[in-house]
Amino acid sequence: MVLVLPTSTSACGIRSSRVSSFTTSRALQSRPQRIAANRASLAVRCEGFTTQVKRNENIGKLAAGYLFPEINRIKGEHLAKNPDAEIISLGIGDTTEPIPDVISKAMSEASLGLSTPEGYSGYGAEAGQMPLREKLAETFYPGMIEGKQLFVSDGSKCDISRLQMMFGNSVSVAVQDPSYPAYVDTSVMMGMTGEFDASNTQYKNIAYMPCLPENNFFPDLANTPRTDIVFFCSPNNPTGASATKAQLEELVAFCKKNGSILVYDAAYSIYIENEDCPKTIYEIEGAKEVAIETASFSKMAGFTGVRLGWTVVPAELKYSDGWPVFNDFNRVMGTCFNGASNVVQAGGLACLSDEGMAAMYELVAFYKENATMLKKCFDDLGFKTYGGVDAPYVWVSFEGRPSWECFTEILEKTDIVTTPGVGFGPAGDGFVRVSAFGRRENVITAIGRFQKAFAK
Ligand SMILES: Cc1ncc(COP(=O)(O)O)c(C=O)c1O
Repeated sequence: MVLVLPTSTSACGIRSSRVSSFTTSRALQSRPQRIAANRASLAVRCEGFTTQVKRNENIGKLAAGYLFPEINRIKGEHLAKNPDAEIISLGIGDTTEPIPDVISKAMSEASLGLSTPEGYSGYGAEAGQMPLREKLAETFYPGMIEGKQLFVSDGSKCDISRLQMMFGNSVSVAVQDPSYPAYVDTSVMMGMTGEFDASNTQYKNIAYMPCLPENNFFPDLANTPRTDIVFFCSPNNPTGASATKAQLEELVAFCKKNGSILVYDAAYSIYIENEDCPKTIYEIEGAKEVAIETASFSKMAGFTGVRLGWTVVPAELKYSDGWPVFNDFNRVMGTCFNGASNVVQAGGLACLSDEGMAAMYELVAFYKENATMLKKCFDDLGFKTYGGVDAPYVWVSFEGRPSWECFTEILEKTDIVTTPGVGFGPAGDGFVRVSAFGRRENVITAIGRFQKAFAK
């Protein structure tokens, strides 16, 4: 059976449709084997005319655009073998529920206003409209951060890339293992790392900080080397772990002792219900001298497609020569970004109105209920689960079994797409991430299928 997968960019830079023959066994290959196979299949597409341009060797280091394309490939193979399968995706972590009316109405009004002389606006401030910046500060950082220290953007992922551009390629980096892949991949693209080492599935020159049940998903900082930049995400994607105040105090003290910059990713902070877990790093004393915080409307307002986020760079944060980091990020934003869409910023302001906040909390409560149901399902089946309380992800332990194998078994037995934990870093092996972003009827159906397939 031959299957045409979505268009992708090949190693030689040609956008092409991927043609893959059906080989379920590939899903069970080891990661180094799969990487070698990917490279071999890409090489075939490098025939024909080539330019004289040398490929960026840092991008060449990336061990394939690996995780979600690979998941899609295996899903495609599964569908080719089982054309009637009704696939449910609890994989990629994309929101499914409609945007609340109060928010979409504000965007449509702003959009219609653009057709009138009074409502028209062109380029705006690169850092975002001041009323939105001030409202964000007042809502999420009362008494901690002022609006002018905050940059509104087209999303947190984009800001992570722009931060990396600002840091340049001579800095060293530490990441939680497992973690959101953007931190490692942008570090590789920037040239901050060495080659990928297939024997331990790590890039050289990155400090991986294992976060496992044994250490309550908080790194052993006493045994973590000093790096210039420390990426830390809480609540964490994928483990769902939310760091406590005491842990974050330790993290800030660690960064301060080492003179490191902490990039704190708070994309899921609205999901935190544990009162012992801060919703922003700036609740920790001294954090303004070491931490940048990035956050997003994506998972609280269903803005994954609309695109709106923000990044805080406090005035107190300085480079070794005393230069404010804020000034450089301002320069990067002014040069590489032309401001978030004015229509979308109107939506952002509506999110932060009383009605908008109530609607967002309702949305978040819905996904949290999905998480509770999914977690209970796996608990009842006898699996050890983590997360799923202060985060929209349930981290399911398969007791050390290779996570691609578990992912494939789940797909074959239930037609449900999850995410193999190892895709987020080597310490994620043995786990599968189950996303709580889904329509309720799909979550209920998925639970029924899990119960049938994994009952002991
Ligand atoms: C930890 C984390 N940070 C950032 C993002 C990206 O957010 P945005 O949609 O604002 O780019 C995601 C998206 O899944 C995420 O999981």
